[in-house]
Amino acid sequence: MAELNSVELVVSARRLVTPQGVRAGVLHIGGGRILAVTDTDTAPAAVRRMDAGDAYVLPGLIDSHVHFRTPGLTHKEDWEHGSRAAAAGGVTTVLDMPNTVPPTLSPEAVREKAALIQGHSLVDHRFHIGVDPQRPELLAELDPGVATSAKIFMAGHHTAPTVVRDAAQLEKAFIAAAEGGVQLVLHAEDGELFSLLDGWWGEPDSYARYEAHRPRTGGIAAVAKVVELVRRHGARAHILHLSSAEEADLVSAARAAGLPLTFEVTGHHLSFTDADTKRLGARTRLSPAIRGQADQDRLWAALRAGLPSTLGSDHAPHTVAEKTRSVRQSPPGLPGVQELAVAVWTGMRRRWPEEDPDVAACRLARYLASGPAELFRLPGKGRLEAGADADLTLFSPDATWMLSAAQVYAKCGWSAYEGWTMTGEVLRTIRAGRVIWDRATRTFGAYDGRLLDSTAGG
Ligand code: DOR
Ligand code: ZN
Repeated sequence: MAELNSVELVVSARRLVTPQGVRAGVLHIGGGRILAVTDTDTAPAAVRRMDAGDAYVLPGLIDSHVHFRTPGLTHKEDWEHGSRAAAAGGVTTVLDMPNTVPPTLSPEAVREKAALIQGHSLVDHRFHIGVDPQRPELLAELDPGVATSAKIFMAGHHTAPTVVRDAAQLEKAFIAAAEGGVQLVLHAEDGELFSLLDGWWGEPDSYARYEAHRPRTGGIAAVAKVVELVRRHGARAHILHLSSAEEADLVSAARAAGLPLTFEVTGHHLSFTDADTKRLGARTRLSPAIRGQADQDRLWAALRAGLPSTLGSDHAPHTVAEKTRSVRQSPPGLPGVQELAVAVWTGMRRRWPEEDPDVAACRLARYLASGPAELFRLPGKGRLEAGADADLTLFSPDATWMLSAAQVYAKCGWSAYEGWTMTGEVLRTIRAGRVIWDRATRTFGAYDGRLLDSTAGG
């Protein structure tokens, strides 16, 4: 075990969440990696030590769906704030979305964005490149080093102007993605249907009517289209922020039949219902809209049955001034990277209080670490094992606390979860063996998060 000579940090825990399950053990860390996972502490006496006590030690969490708004929209969010929110939420890696100004539609734009972020992020990162509606065929040549995946917006709104509306262009994108072996991620709603409804009824002018104006039929129609395109062309497709029972059934059936189709569930679709949108208004105005209780129940059931591949926050902040515009003018989206893991943990403990917390912890690790790492091919990420990056999330499962605006690190300074009593707390977040969030002191680490490449890590 020559490697053990370079151990710099030892983390002892009663509850390490490993790919084989929860176990007591010791992580030997050096050079930013986990060098070994052992039963006992075999490191030299001089090495720094950390005792996680009763906290779960999860693999550093991965949020594969954030909008950190660089470039062009940094009045809403920037990487300092966004990555602080991530670190405080236990997240060590994010995948950022392309609906910026200008949009991230080319490898050059990705490189420019990466350069802007360097030195400003606490967390590791990669990107979803945007699909150019005028040139979807470019996907066939996309270098996998540039982006993990390519994002298609099938419906647009205030902050999502680059939409692939044309059926022929959409089909071209699937053909090119299949040819280039590119993973697609989709905002699958039927924008034409929404335009039709707005034409008939006028745009929504009250939050009581918001869901009806952006109904489930839009999602179901678009998901059906995606299923058919995947069936015909074979591209890998991941449906983002799936919001209704019917979509979950459709995607699950297609997947069971062998199609390379997966889906994401967001923290907010698990946490809120349309009744909250009536009360909270713009704060839970989202695209796709938050649906009813039955849909929320179905999404939780899907989670318990292991059906989604990832959980995402869709962290998409807007300023208070933007959110308090009239119903017609207010943009959809909320901050969520900080709240994601605790909100899901809170929901799991409340819904299934009899469940062994170790089972819940493994589920969290699967949806927020190994699942996204596998789907988006992030070597060295998502698993606590020898050779992996030393990204850890120390999570206290029983702590309860109330979320207030004062604790929000996103630049917008508000949260739809204000006033929620949370169960579970992120005590410490560690990236590459170094602390980037410490709950006791409310301090952060160094802004030297890495741009990951497809060959990085162990
Ligand atoms: O609610 C949303 N907000 N949905 C999206 O698809 C985009 C996001 C944003 O960027 O504001
Ligand atoms: Zn999004």
